[in-house]
Amino acid sequence: MKIETVSVRLEKRRDATAREALLDAAFGDTRFEKTCERLRETNRAAEGLSLVAIKNGRLVGTLRLWPVVTGDGRSVLLLGPLAVDAAERSAGIGARLMRLAIKRARRAGHKAILLVGDAPYYARFGFSPALTRDLDLPGPVDRSRFLGLELVSGALKGASGVLQPAAVMPLSQKAANFRLAA
Ligand SMILES: CC(C)(COP(=O)(O)OP(=O)(O)OC[C@H]1O[C@@H](n2cnc3c(N)ncnc32)[C@H](O)[C@@H]1OP(=O)(O)O)[C@@H](O)C(=O)NCCC(=O)NCCS
Repeated sequence: MKIETVSVRLEKRRDATAREALLDAAFGDTRFEKTCERLRETNRAAEGLSLVAIKNGRLVGTLRLWPVVTGDGRSVLLLGPLAVDAAERSAGIGARLMRLAIKRARRAGHKAILLVGDAPYYARFGFSPALTRDLDLPGPVDRSRFLGLELVSGALKGASGVLQPAAVMPLSQKAANFRLAA
């Protein structure tokens, strides 16, 4: 019997098509309506922090981190999207991606990570809504899903204001099409 192992590695340029297909399957087209997308669509994913999970040569998981700046000028990371192929869930792939991303971000000197997601899932990695109390996103957000994790103690203490993307590039064609249709 062939044992299929899952490996986690840095994302490569050639992973983009499979990654987007996985995200379409996990979130559907409405993923471009999410407020977090306003912080990603003109942004560049943080260097060396985008991860993929590969099983039998197939991309089965994706996690990316984005550089953003808080309203009071702190450089932090925005995590997401995180997705695992529906057929491969509950096998620990999501947790592996999360733990490695957090470890690499800390090693790279980043001070904090923010995300919008289900608190019952992300709490196990230390994320809490208490750290985002005075922060805002450039659009509507369910505050109970707006979570933070300090990589350096106190990094989010008193953090406030609206998040902005750290890098600003032209809109991708896909994002531009969504804007036109909205
Ligand atoms: C969330 C997701 C990435 C987790 O990936 P995964 O590889 O299944 O995660 P893990 O194996 O590390 O953990 C699975 C556990 O988390 C739980 N879990 C999964 N999603 C959860 C959620 N939204 N809220 C609470 N618990 C959740 C599962 O029930 C499972 O529990 P079990 O171990 O008791 O069976 C995956 O379910 C997914 O891609 N979902 C669709 C996209 C999505 O919702 N992304 C995250 C945005 S909040």
